Amino acid sequence: MPPHFSLLVLLLFFLLLVVLYSFQYSSSQNAPVLRSRNAPATEFLSFFSSSSSNSTVSTHLRCLTRRPHLAGTPSSSSAAAYVLSRLRSAGLQTLTRTYSPLLSYPSSSSLSLLRPDHSLLKPLSLLEPADPSPSSGVVPPYHAYSPSGSAVAPPVFVNFGRDEDYVVLDKLGVEVSGKVVIVRRGMGPRGAVVAKAAEKGAEAVVMFGDRTDGGVERGTVMSGSVGDPLTPGWAAVGARGAERLREEDEEVRRRLPRIPSMPVSAETATEILRALGGPAAPEEWCFGAAAEVRGVGGGNVLLNFTYRR
Ligand SMILES: *[C@@H]1O[C@H](CO)[C@@H](O)[C@H](O)[C@H]1NC(C)=O
Ligand SMILES: *[C@@H]1O[C@H](CO)[C@@H](O)[C@H](O)[C@H]1NC(C)=O
Repeated sequence: MPPHFSLLVLLLFFLLLVVLYSFQYSSSQNAPVLRSRNAPATEFLSFFSSSSSNSTVSTHLRCLTRRPHLAGTPSSSSAAAYVLSRLRSAGLQTLTRTYSPLLSYPSSSSLSLLRPDHSLLKPLSLLEPADPSPSSGVVPPYHAYSPSGSAVAPPVFVNFGRDEDYVVLDKLGVEVSGKVVIVRRGMGPRGAVVAKAAEKGAEAVVMFGDRTDGGVERGTVMSGSVGDPLTPGWAAVGARGAERLREEDEEVRRRLPRIPSMPVSAETATEILRALGGPAAPEEWCFGAAAEVRGVGGGNVLLNFTYRR
């Protein structure tokens, strides 16, 4: 995992904006006062819509979303600079803080189907069908905080990867230990699904969503509450300013997944699932990207999984 990356937190600006606006709002005699911290969303909505026009809102949105701006990258710093300059030109007092949380970026990944004799059956795409040109600058699909790892093992379909799904596999006599788990996204946090697969002895996890829009969901597989794992409960100010736990510390290791995982498109998941032999999959598992699944897996094919962060 790359060590620490300086990160300008956009949220700070928005928070500042809200605080300053509501201060200005409640101190003004004529304006309706935001009555409480739980003021209904409609009140905020009418306040914000009275203070800007549709065209300025759409211009800002266009500027901020024109390019990908993954946290800690140069384009994220340009987005922060844009927000800062708009707030300043609106006459607001601004300040910036630099935070250095532990972030996670992908470096390389590959996936292919192999025959039992390890000869190549089919290379699989890890791209996002909706954005097939990596030159667009969009970060390739990945699971943040997944460790690097590789596995050559039979894939097993575990439906949503819940306890009851593993019970079904157990009854079918299908072992998950030493296999690559193919799991459908949608029940519970990603981190918990990967942790459960690790607990069952899986080598790696491939996660898919039943999407028809060509998108692939990115996201974290860290467990527990959100925030920097190295500074839980305090701010990750500066590169050396705050006390930090180490990645090897038990408190950190507990939150980071033990096995690698990555997300794939529904199309790639379908290619894997179609190739599976073994005991028949329960009827209620066979929908979406798994509509054509026959068996839950049985070692008639292998998956070659590699992820490097
Ligand atoms: C702004 O857009 C919203 C949503 O489309 C619309 O309801 C509203 O009337 C628009 N306001 C103006 C001033 O055009
Ligand atoms: C599995 O994939 C990796 C990375 O692409 C490759 O180096 C390796 O040779 C492959 N293993 C097999 C058995 O094909």
